Amino acid sequence: MGNRHDTAYKASIENPDDFWGKAAEACRWFRKWDKVLDESESPFYRWFTGGETNTCYNALDCHVEDGRADQVALIYDSPVTNTIKKYTYKALRDEVAKFAGVLAAQGVAKGDRVLIYMPMIPEAVMTMLACARIGAVHSVVFGGFAPKELATRIMDAQPKVIVAASCGIEVSRIVSYKPMLDAAIDMVDSKPDRCIIFQRPQEPASMIEGRDLDWHDVMDTAKPHDCVPVRATDPLYILYTSGTTGQPKGVVRDNGGHLVSLKWTMKNVYDVDPGDVYWAASDVGWVVGHSYIVYGPLFQGCTTILFEGKPVGTPDAGAFWRVISDHKVKCMFTAPTAFRAIKREDPQGELIKKYDLSCFKSLFLAGERSDPDTLNWAESHLGIPVIDHWWQTETGWAISGNCLGLHQFPIKHGSTTKPVPGWNLDVVDAECNPLKATEIGALVVKLPLPPGTLMTLWNNDEGFKAAYLDEFPGYYKTADAGYVDEKDYVFVMSRTDDIINVAGHRLSTGAMEEVLADHPDVAECAVFGVADDIKGQLPLGLLVLKAGVDRNSEEIAKEVIQMVRDRIGPVASFKTATVVKRLPKTRSGKTLRGTMQKMADNVDHRVPATIDDPAILEEIDEALISIGYGRGRGKKV
Ligand code: COA
Ligand code: AMP
Repeated sequence: MGNRHDTAYKASIENPDDFWGKAAEACRWFRKWDKVLDESESPFYRWFTGGETNTCYNALDCHVEDGRADQVALIYDSPVTNTIKKYTYKALRDEVAKFAGVLAAQGVAKGDRVLIYMPMIPEAVMTMLACARIGAVHSVVFGGFAPKELATRIMDAQPKVIVAASCGIEVSRIVSYKPMLDAAIDMVDSKPDRCIIFQRPQEPASMIEGRDLDWHDVMDTAKPHDCVPVRATDPLYILYTSGTTGQPKGVVRDNGGHLVSLKWTMKNVYDVDPGDVYWAASDVGWVVGHSYIVYGPLFQGCTTILFEGKPVGTPDAGAFWRVISDHKVKCMFTAPTAFRAIKREDPQGELIKKYDLSCFKSLFLAGERSDPDTLNWAESHLGIPVIDHWWQTETGWAISGNCLGLHQFPIKHGSTTKPVPGWNLDVVDAECNPLKATEIGALVVKLPLPPGTLMTLWNNDEGFKAAYLDEFPGYYKTADAGYVDEKDYVFVMSRTDDIINVAGHRLSTGAMEEVLADHPDVAECAVFGVADDIKGQLPLGLLVLKAGVDRNSEEIAKEVIQMVRDRIGPVASFKTATVVKRLPKTRSGKTLRGTMQKMADNVDHRVPATIDDPAILEEIDEALISIGYGRGRGKKV
């Protein structure tokens, strides 16, 4: 007899129609689906075709109707503004209905895009839900991106309206969102009809007449708008994520599959019930924020927390424990980097002892590999299950994890436990041959993917196939490498492309190289991720200058660092670059980034047999030592 996880897993793979059809019964539909899994347009699989629903209705209205009107839906906890504000399901529904009315009055209709450029304030959540209410497609852009990145997303999504805040608040500075928005709109040809600006008292923005509207003014006169039925297969949102170039990929999520899968995960993966308090300490600009600050907890009738602060510095490394204890959080989700930051400031966990954490039952980590030190620290100081689970912007929810609502497996550090029901995971070699247990290869998922995963890339079906489906026929390529052991435990080791994870934020080193290559003095460059104690990885840039350039190398390094901050944004954390004479390459001309990365991390590496000129590695070695990397790690520079 298997456990509940094994039974559910088998059912989900052998009979997905039945499995997900049953899960969908827990959601509200205006029209029932004709087909659970529709394979007619494969590889563009669709879920719940023929069905009609509304995501906002499932997040808010249904709970108001079912007796949760006075339960708190959202707690806005903002140490950076000294604010705690609670919205009941009814209050949040009413605000969202009003803002949906505002958008409709501006001509936003089903299928139109609305871009959201806002910090962690309730109005960001309201805007997302208001879009869902009228069938508009939202696209949230993370505040740490620079105007150029914002412009790229505006160009691709072509929003009718942009909703932004005047500013964001970081620990030590105010981030002026509005000037960045204006700069981004200046860069694009097809401009939005309207911008609706939420003025924050910390830094009100100047408005452009005829284009900008004040959030408060339009809300004062707004008429509430009801939920509009949309097809299960209609897009709910586009979320841009780093690809291998400077052009981000617009991951498209549907309404029906997203609703069914996220609601299912709340109980089965996280073991939370209606009325429980769930907290994802992430940002609404990332997929974790979409799935588990906004949609999942609200679908489940939980109380969700919107935390505008940091794990450290707002005001101290006890911030997480304060929030958990004040709001009675049962389950929390964050990135390991947050725990590394806390551990550095409070190694003995003294601040934990100040709070009553008896409500706290489980901690989930994702976004990057969880290192054993961090896991040990969290487990020993909190005394609750600490679950590492693996997922991606594309998947929208966990591919592998320890599903607490089904069965708790023993935890193995370094592993994200087992594939979650719905995920037919395999490990294959470069020729797509299945590998044996413990052999490292490409982690791939047999098609069709479960509901709630990416439908395609926005306006780019061919790009979707090329990026995810072509390399391993019949499979979705995760672009992660790893292995599965004899007991089906999954070990995710590293990306197979040039994506790096910096403080849980996904970034493309290729995009950074594009910026560096634009510097007039740079002939060639390489950017790769180096290990960092707090952020997991940090980007490091090596520059080869054009012949004849005799300017000060440090000046040039400073200039490229500023260029990355200006063009990609502070979130890239690009703070180290140095000039080298040459870059090591294979005889066929491929830059040996992997070798340089290992050298920078001062870990064992073999000189590749295909290297063109091994002497270059000695030059790289010296350059790395001079900036405190490689054999110079830990030494003061
Ligand atoms: N708007 C504007 N700027 C932002 C921003 C935002 N929403 N978020 C981050 N930034 C800026 C930061 O201020 C920083 O700027 P600086 O170079 O001037 O200092 C830069 O982007 C890098 O940010 P970050 O990498 O987050 O570093 P940090 O030092 O501010 O904080 C952590 C480090 C570990 C505390 C923080 O990253 C964290 O809490 N991460 C875990 C949670 C998380 O969000 N995970 C995401 C997916 S689950
Ligand atoms: P993102 O799309 O920002 O969520 O980043 C997804 C990538 O983060 C994955 O492809 C992995 O490389 C990495 N990642 C996410 N969760 C984990 C995890 N639990 N363990 C290891 N890597 C992870």
